[in-house]
Amino acid sequence: MRERLLAAEKTRSIEWCGDCLRLLDQRLLPLEVVWRSFDSVADVAQAIREMVVRGAPAIGISAAYGVVLGLRTHLKNGGDWRNQLECDFAVLAAARPTAVNLAWALGQMRERLQRLRPGEDVLAALEAQAVVIHQSDREANLVMAQWGVELIRKFNTSPQTFLTHCNTGALATGGFGTALGVIRAAHLDGLVERVYADETRPWLQGSRLTAWELSNEDVPVTLNVDSAAGHLMKTRAISWVIVGADRIAANGDVANKIGTYQLAVLAMHHGVRFMVVAPSSTFDMSMEDGDAMPLEERSAKELLELNGQQVAKEVDVYNPVFDVTPADLIDAIVTEKGIVERPTADKLARLMSRTRLH
Ligand code: MRU
Repeated sequence: MRERLLAAEKTRSIEWCGDCLRLLDQRLLPLEVVWRSFDSVADVAQAIREMVVRGAPAIGISAAYGVVLGLRTHLKNGGDWRNQLECDFAVLAAARPTAVNLAWALGQMRERLQRLRPGEDVLAALEAQAVVIHQSDREANLVMAQWGVELIRKFNTSPQTFLTHCNTGALATGGFGTALGVIRAAHLDGLVERVYADETRPWLQGSRLTAWELSNEDVPVTLNVDSAAGHLMKTRAISWVIVGADRIAANGDVANKIGTYQLAVLAMHHGVRFMVVAPSSTFDMSMEDGDAMPLEERSAKELLELNGQQVAKEVDVYNPVFDVTPADLIDAIVTEKGIVERPTADKLARLMSRTRLH
């Protein structure tokens, strides 16, 4: 399966060039395919904040490369690079609050810094660490795709209909995708009748990114407004809702794109299975449950305007862009370490203590 997955790969959104980071500008897709180059920490942080790059793993990978860019500048300019790098860590960490992959990737970079041997080339060491973060996310995606297909097959081996939310594909990760990776692998295995993609208001990750990625690969995809989900589950024989995650608490509560929680409630009501696909870098075992998760709220403009044109009166706006789905609404969490069905704190603690399974 691994070879078939790699052969089918069409999209990448992150490229490391040694002295700059190239990102596919996700704000312009699918109408324009524009790559942008970034050579400073401030610019990478801004790219994360302003959604040039988005999706939990992709944000973490970009931040790791941001640290390398910062270090390169500090070494060139002279002065106390360790102190300057501390400021870079803080700037990157503050770029977006919900996806824990950002803090995880920065933690990995910091840990590598602490393991420097006397006389070791610090720039080469941190660059290699960022590349490992990038490559291991890609590898995790490939493994999760295979686990996910195994889980789907366990219940039904004929072509099925899926519903997904937001973007969780090659664009949102180091390559291939989390939830969309499972869907792509299921398609290669003949298990996909059709995928319904929620449009995902207000940034339209579903219509701009997911529908684009799936149609590029000839996966049968139908776009729907977010509020069609209940009707779809009632009338279109959806087998699975499959989504990604931005942060998973120790008990299995999942923060993901706003609207995920209501999908899980609807899925429970309609007897539709609910799968979350995320690498172990998305787990925040320091959080007992989802109650204290930081959930990003964005500007009122995102609802009051469409394409820069005001469409609503200046009223009070509430624009949370993530929500928390309680663990008891989730049938399975698929990670590169394995699958946990009906997640509980005990099962997840055992999963996280494992080394990766292939
Ligand atoms: O605001 P975004 O576009 O960064 O949100 C992305 C999501 O919520 C994804 O579903 C999530 O990061 C899972 S990514 C593989």
